[in-house]
Amino acid sequence: MRREHMSSKIYATITGVGHYAPEKVLTNDDLEKMVDTSDEWIVTRTGIRERHIAAPDEFTSHMAIAAARKALAHAGVAPEEVEAIYVATCTPDMVFPSTACLVQAGLGIKNAYGYDVSSACAGFVMALDTASAVISAGRIKTALVIGAEKLSAVTDWTSRNTCILFGDGAGAVVLQASDKPGMLSSYLGVDGNLSDILYLPAGGSKLPASEETVRERLHTVHMAGRETFKIAVNTMVDAAQTAVARAGLQIQDIDIIVPHQANHRIVDAVATRLGEGVRDIVFMNLERYGNTSAASIPIALSEAVASGQVKSGDNILMVSFGGGLSWGGGVWVWP
Ligand code: UT7
Repeated sequence: MRREHMSSKIYATITGVGHYAPEKVLTNDDLEKMVDTSDEWIVTRTGIRERHIAAPDEFTSHMAIAAARKALAHAGVAPEEVEAIYVATCTPDMVFPSTACLVQAGLGIKNAYGYDVSSACAGFVMALDTASAVISAGRIKTALVIGAEKLSAVTDWTSRNTCILFGDGAGAVVLQASDKPGMLSSYLGVDGNLSDILYLPAGGSKLPASEETVRERLHTVHMAGRETFKIAVNTMVDAAQTAVARAGLQIQDIDIIVPHQANHRIVDAVATRLGEGVRDIVFMNLERYGNTSAASIPIALSEAVASGQVKSGDNILMVSFGGGLSWGGGVWVWP
């Protein structure tokens, strides 16, 4: 009996989820007044109708803390129980300290370590994978995994190619050790050969801030939209199929898919390629948030749970794609 106990698997399970969106809403009509675009173009090409925009004095850490508070309350976990904080973000408050440190201080968490995971839109699935592995290894019992972004701070508001896409917000989950599943599988990948189709050129060691970088708007997201679109579909299909296979399941066994909310046409193309009827189990809230990068999956998961669309025992597939290039998928059982 003792040997059985010692060899029993430790799963990481999601026991709480929460999200936060800034108060200000920027509609497509508002964007029409800023750049040469139209509500019709944006809705047809992306599915986005509005997005939330953080206040000037509201930063990524504030949104992360707000989402984390809700996730902790949902899980019934006190801040002092948290042993690790993972913040997926490509828009940290500062280059360092990590946003995770600011979250630790903001929530009054004691005795935890934390760091940021920088993998653009795929950051949340990457962070979930690491946190889950640390829990399954028996190193910690409770972790906070947060996706938080203030993309409005790195958006070129004069470029219609990008400014219509992005929004701000945060989502968080509490992960806890359990003898019941849990994370069933994970599949992650990167390809730096394609780093220049979606990137933020300046502000790092390559192009530190200068008058020129500011003048050339190099502190904002640069993207080759069409190329990104095509690769997003292929990699998300691959990530979804591989994650499902690694879980020992078929796509028909998945109850709900929570994809990165990039563009409704990307998600529709992925769903079509995954099989008949798959579109019906995809959760979307892109219309009201735009693309919030690493925050998009946890915000969507939180809304899916709050709306009652996730039931105990459901198999959830999360799948993402982003700059890097980077991608990932994971299958989870809802406890
Ligand atoms: O998290 C991952 C991050 N990135 C993505 O997911 C983005 C992936 N890519 C996309 O979602 C799409 O490529 C976009 C939504 C960005 C663009 O849609 P598209 O169907 O690929 O349009 P396009 O770039 O091929 O542009 C078509 C036309 C162009 O005009 P011409 O050359 O045909 O005359 C653009 O100049 O639409 C024009 N255009 C716009 N028109 C009105 C581009 N942006 C806009 C705009 N409003 N905002």
